Amino acid sequence: MCIVEVADKKITLGKFQDQIFAFAQKCPHASGIMADGFIDAAGMVVCPLHRYRFSLQNGRNTSGEGYYLKTYPTQMREDGLYVAF
Ligand code: FES
Repeated sequence: MCIVEVADKKITLGKFQDQIFAFAQKCPHASGIMADGFIDAAGMVVCPLHRYRFSLQNGRNTSGEGYYLKTYPTQMREDGLYVAF
């Protein structure tokens, strides 16, 4: 994972199974830096602070704490990666 700045906004990019996902830089729980966590074998991004898990597809909190990680649609085109806000 890495942090990039797009349209004056810092977001996280994560790669899983050759697909790029875009989501918030900070965790919705207590602002952990998502890029310092990891993506597990099931395709969930895991926050480094308290290990809450979120779906890369839709931001749903799959470890059950009731939070929601903001995600952004991405599309790979010939001239690069596009992220929709
Ligand atoms: S700050 Fe991310 S799980 Fe607590």
